[in-house]
Amino acid sequence: MDKQKIVVFSGAGMSAESGIMTFREMGGLWEQYDVTEVASPIAWENSPQLVMDFYNQRRKQLFECEPNEGHLLIAKLEDKYDVEIVTQNVDDLHERAGSSKILHLHGELKKARSTADESLVYEMDHWELKLGDVCEKGSQLRPHIVWFGEAVPAMDDAIELVRQADIVLVVGTSLSVYPAAGLLSYIENNIPIYVIDPGSPAFTPKENITFIAEKASVGMEQLTQKLF
Ligand code: OAD
Repeated sequence: MDKQKIVVFSGAGMSAESGIMTFREMGGLWEQYDVTEVASPIAWENSPQLVMDFYNQRRKQLFECEPNEGHLLIAKLEDKYDVEIVTQNVDDLHERAGSSKILHLHGELKKARSTADESLVYEMDHWELKLGDVCEKGSQLRPHIVWFGEAVPAMDDAIELVRQADIVLVVGTSLSVYPAAGLLSYIENNIPIYVIDPGSPAFTPKENITFIAEKASVGMEQLTQKLF
């Protein structure tokens, strides 16, 4: 028998217990930085060094973080389910926890890409990207991140996955950034949806939702007992 498909939609709260800051909570990243000054094409044009510094700091921190129990339990779901992860996170903690199918909607912090040819993407094994670092065609490299105001190329694939889901699991996202948050409107009727988040994500009411108001590790422990 085919395995049931679980689509996991994760956000910053998924990695909070690994020590990575969320964006919109008190003390979150967007309280410390102005989004348009560090995460937009205009920022890159006007102050590339500031943008580099911002992502270098995030990347440096990521090299020091480990997946948490929540990531590990999601990877474990593959023992019984066909698990597809659609994440807004730019960290690689789902990968390092052992999950095998991960779609990054907003890019990947440990990759750099050419500003001249977006198909030229490079893995980074160190934290620092510098002005002057260039691709094989000689053009400046930029963080492989989807900035505000840019298209989200993985969106169509993500919609297709969500449409095929037998179970949907939403972990640690405020659901306030579009188009990503709009993904949930593609869930077929009557599909069970589990939402793990200690806060109050902006969920449009749908049938068959179970809210688990816990942090990712505790919520995943509870859900694992239910799903196995
Ligand atoms: P937010 O910071 O908007 O939301 C984080 C969510 O995680 C909130 O709903 C919190 O209640 C929840 N949370 C906090 N700690 C948690 C824990 N230990 N376990 C589970 N949940 C927890 O982050 P996102 O929704 O991911 O985009 O933000 C979406 C996008 O906005 C990001 O991908 C990023 C940001 O700007 C870009 O930078 C392009």
